[in-house]
Amino acid sequence: MNTLFKLKAYYMPFKRYFFLSLFFLVVVTFITIVYPIVLQVTIDEVVYLERYALIPVVAGVFIILMLIKSISTYLQQYLGDLFGIKSVYSLRDGLYRKLQRLPFRYYDNAKTGDLMSRLTADVEAFRFFLSFGFAELIRIALLIVVSLSVMFFYSASLTLVTMAAMPFLLVVVFQFDKRVHPAFRGIRKAFGNMNTRVQENISGMTTVKSLSREDYEVGRFTDRNDEYRTNYIDTSNIWAKYFPLMEFVGNVSVVALLGYGGYLVMQGSLQYGELVAFFSLVWYILGPLMNLGFVINLFSQSKASGERLLEILQAEEEIQEIKQPFQSSAIEGHVTFQDVTLAYDEGDDAALKDISFEALPGTTIGLIGSTGSGKTSITQLMTRFYEPQQGEVLIDGKPVQEYGLKQLRSSIGFVLQETFLFSTSIKENIAYGNPEASMEDIMDAAKRAQAHEFIMAMPKGYDTLLGERGMGLSGGQKQRIAIARAILIDPCILVLDDATSAVDMETEVRIQQALKEVMKGRTTFIIAHRISSLKHADEIIVLADGVITERGTHEKLLQNGGPYQRIYDIQYQDKEMVLNTVKSSS
Ligand SMILES: Nc1ncnc2c1ncn2[C@@H]1O[C@H](COP(=O)(O)OP(=O)(O)OP(=O)(O)O)[C@@H](O)[C@H]1O
Ligand SMILES: [Mg+2]
Repeated sequence: MNTLFKLKAYYMPFKRYFFLSLFFLVVVTFITIVYPIVLQVTIDEVVYLERYALIPVVAGVFIILMLIKSISTYLQQYLGDLFGIKSVYSLRDGLYRKLQRLPFRYYDNAKTGDLMSRLTADVEAFRFFLSFGFAELIRIALLIVVSLSVMFFYSASLTLVTMAAMPFLLVVVFQFDKRVHPAFRGIRKAFGNMNTRVQENISGMTTVKSLSREDYEVGRFTDRNDEYRTNYIDTSNIWAKYFPLMEFVGNVSVVALLGYGGYLVMQGSLQYGELVAFFSLVWYILGPLMNLGFVINLFSQSKASGERLLEILQAEEEIQEIKQPFQSSAIEGHVTFQDVTLAYDEGDDAALKDISFEALPGTTIGLIGSTGSGKTSITQLMTRFYEPQQGEVLIDGKPVQEYGLKQLRSSIGFVLQETFLFSTSIKENIAYGNPEASMEDIMDAAKRAQAHEFIMAMPKGYDTLLGERGMGLSGGQKQRIAIARAILIDPCILVLDDATSAVDMETEVRIQQALKEVMKGRTTFIIAHRISSLKHADEIIVLADGVITERGTHEKLLQNGGPYQRIYDIQYQDKEMVLNTVKSSS
């Protein structure tokens, strides 16, 4: 119930549908119980007393009742569904919005398959309970209470005799629930596992095929499929066994009813019609009781689903925006790091230690260092993707926390190591950060990113649709689209994280020339492994294990005798070696 209570913000706005549906449910239930009463009256008051003139009246009442019941059933079901569907719409919307707000730190540990199944299967389980389970629970309670009252009204002793077997039925129901619940959980888990397999397999198809592991993957999937099948068969077996058992206990009640009831009729203390009514009423109790196991199960399933949804909804957002963000009309791009230390996980070694530097507006900073030395981490602190444990990151002299996240992030353009392209047209992909951009602006950005030519060579040009993950484009082409995307948002700070690693030397030189113009007036961070990419920077920062080991201009660092010079030697020795071999062979 607690879970249900915590989710009330999503269904309370639609409570009027629920209460209306409940009203019609009560009408339907009462009419259901009136059936046997009409039967009893017909037998005892009409047929037995031979008052045949009353038959049209009874028939008329019956038809009217049935009409009311049909309409009420329709309204009850439709309104109940409306309640579930509308609630779940707002729940799904809330979940998706929450996913957009959750920090990078959350996604570092999240599994795509798991999140997907929460947003689909768990939401669906919750809906089913709202639409159906809740009402069913109330219907069962109502049917049992009202039927029992009518039965007691007819004959208390016969009611007690009939109900003698009920405790056994309840035991069977709860036994059933105890066994079927874990079985259902098994099915859900197996289903999740199977989904994860499929998802990973499709995402990693390139790796699977290139290493010829198709058979292995088929085997792994078969295992999961098998697990799912076995779980399903087990559950099916439990269902199949318990229902006849429940029916058997129910039938024992009916035999007791007929035996003792018949005796009472012969004695004259019970009327014929009353016995017939009893016979119908007892099934109104047995049926719902048998169903109780199923409904309880539904309830526990939806509770489990609700908990999984709450886990997302209650996840900490960490990165809080301040109430009144500082609004700058134009950010100039003056970036300052003061003694910044960042550790991704508590207890982990710091990824950045005591980093301090200053980048004046319009200057270019080069970041170089071995993999894992913290280059990308530095740039992610400016946009508040992560927050440092110590120290301060300032933009135009103000701590980044004082800006609104939107303004902050739209002033910083990223070209990342790995580009993500959406499965829409090239045009929309370039305009993703600036959907209002005109076609001219888009083409201009593409030209500057050296992407225009290859885009025009495609059959549909800018309207070419990309597959998932930007399939159909080479790595270098994807990077150039990402560069165009960054240019189009016209940021005052530009981050090029290994942005030209996937293009050939010639294209790199062309892009660099183009970028030189783009970089004018913007503070630019160039992260690169090749010295040729960043040697023109105003300051080059050399990182090792999260610490700045050297800094200065290219010329100064070459004289320093430090790591930069070593990197230079390695990269340019190669060139000399190549030149030498070419010379000696000619
Ligand atoms: N999301 C994360 N969660 C935990 N640790 C991380 C995360 N991102 C980076 N790290 C760790 O922080 C350190 C610095 O990583 P970073 O990505 O900044 O390196 P880099 O210099 O950009 O490397 P590369 O040249 O390979 O891109 C590494 O040790 C890395 O394992
Ligand atoms: Mg990196």
